[in-house]
Amino acid sequence: MIKTLKVAGAALGLALPFAMPSSAQAADNALVQQGAYLAKLGDCVACHSAPKGKPFAGGLPMSTPMGKIYSTNITPDPDTGIGRYTEEDFARALREGVARDGHNLYPAMPYPSYAKVKDDDVKALYAFFMNGVAPVQQANRASDIPWPLNMRWPLALWNVVFLEKGVYQDKTGKDVAWNRGAYIVQGLGHCGSCHTPRGIAFQEKALDESGSAYLTGAPLDGWFAANLTQEQNVGLGRWSEADLAAFLKTGANAHASAFGSMTSVINNSTQATNDTDIAAMTSYLRSLPAAGGTGAPPYSYDAQATRVSLTRPANDAGARVYTEYCMHCHGVDGRGFAPMLAPLAGNPNVLEHDASSLINVTLNGTGDLVIQGIPAPYPMPNYAPVLNDRQIADVLTFVRAGWNNGAPAVSADEVAKLRKSTQAAR
Ligand code: HEC
Ligand code: HEC
Ligand code: HEC
Repeated sequence: MIKTLKVAGAALGLALPFAMPSSAQAADNALVQQGAYLAKLGDCVACHSAPKGKPFAGGLPMSTPMGKIYSTNITPDPDTGIGRYTEEDFARALREGVARDGHNLYPAMPYPSYAKVKDDDVKALYAFFMNGVAPVQQANRASDIPWPLNMRWPLALWNVVFLEKGVYQDKTGKDVAWNRGAYIVQGLGHCGSCHTPRGIAFQEKALDESGSAYLTGAPLDGWFAANLTQEQNVGLGRWSEADLAAFLKTGANAHASAFGSMTSVINNSTQATNDTDIAAMTSYLRSLPAAGGTGAPPYSYDAQATRVSLTRPANDAGARVYTEYCMHCHGVDGRGFAPMLAPLAGNPNVLEHDASSLINVTLNGTGDLVIQGIPAPYPMPNYAPVLNDRQIADVLTFVRAGWNNGAPAVSADEVAKLRKSTQAAR
């Protein structure tokens, strides 16, 4: 994905007029650059590019509750892309989920979040997609959703009920940084599209902090997108401002490291965010009151009990697997060597009630975090070929009980289910 971004960058250079720019052209260039930055905040490339495909040419399969759909070509090619879109057409697609020919887009395109994007930013994004992206001729692929579920008109009704129209309005009584952070997190960042639980019609239960479910964590394609409120155990309550900034810039800190779909968010989007905007996002996120979680007392580290079972692992099936397969990286003390090697003691993902992420990461390992072009030196190995369901359940049960983590056991059935669904997706 990083490579494709570089290609987009090269295309950007080529598409821009470089001989003796007039002041009008210089202003246009600045607008295109601004749009390129906003496209990264919005992570458009992540969904609108297929693996090994051209940037923004679409074709990425995405699962919805009704079947697979494919993202579309948003390069300026006039026939297969969005080359014939006017700025108004583009604004309507982005903020209202309606394509140029009037058909409704599936909300897999996060337009309920992008609805908040202000006019100036839409203008810059449009300038970038028209002048900074190389056109690619590649026809869109129809969805695999069977008739009658593939009918799009019910989406117009869905929009009436769930789409909140109107761009972001600054809140009085909050400072500039908070408002900027709220604007990015709720709008282009579309953090809630993964981190907010969904209701029965696939709608996010809240689109901003006025709803108590906002960013309280949600299951997503075999992962669990963590709670981002100030909850002490499974949320970000124990993270300092610097911890949160480090995670968004580098994908790891003293508490946890990125995996699953968050890896691509960090590779393509948040690491490119400038320091002012990162500070704004952390200011907003750190203002979200604790919500969700298990109601357990605040975590405090305790190495004692675990040390005893690790020196005599024979009696504990989970401790046996841990000493043999995990301990050399994650440590006797469960603290790993953060931020290079993730800690398991007190890690919010380990304490989370829903164990999907832990099972998935142990089965399938992690995708490469690539920070400033450099892949992470020690990725988490995949144990699907090495450990059976029982062994993975045992070791994760051990990890969830260890170091005072106090999280519930994991069953072999849960592991079997995820093994099946994640292997089928390969
Ligand atoms: C989470 C995935 C996702 C992200 C992120 C995303 N899109 Fe989309 N987008 C889609 C999907 C899927 C469709 C097609 C939906 C359909 O066919 O109903 C789409 C459709 C569109 C369309 C309509 C074009 C057409 O012919 O279908 C435009 C324009 C568009 N996206 C622009 C953007 C821009 C600009 C960004 C970044 C600010 C962006 N998208 C980010 C998933 C995404
Ligand atoms: C495509 C889905 C997706 C989007 C969009 C997304 N995230 Fe995530 N995020 C995840 C998943 C899955 C995890 C759990 C794995 C992990 O901890 O890396 C996660 C984890 C995190 C964590 C670590 C939490 C912890 O306890 O370890 C932070 C912080 C975070 N996301 C912030 C954000 C912010 C801020 C945004 C918006 C700019 C965002 N995410 C957008 C999927 C997403
Ligand atoms: C070669 C070193 C190595 C070994 C061995 C290893 N891990 Fe990991 N593990 C990592 C690294 C590195 C990460 C963080 C990866 C990332 O996020 O990109 C990680 C992450 C994790 C996470 C997610 C925590 C988080 O928030 O990032 C869990 C859970 C985990 N490992 C469990 C295990 C278990 C269980 C075993 C043994 C079966 C094991 N690991 C063996 C290196 C290792």
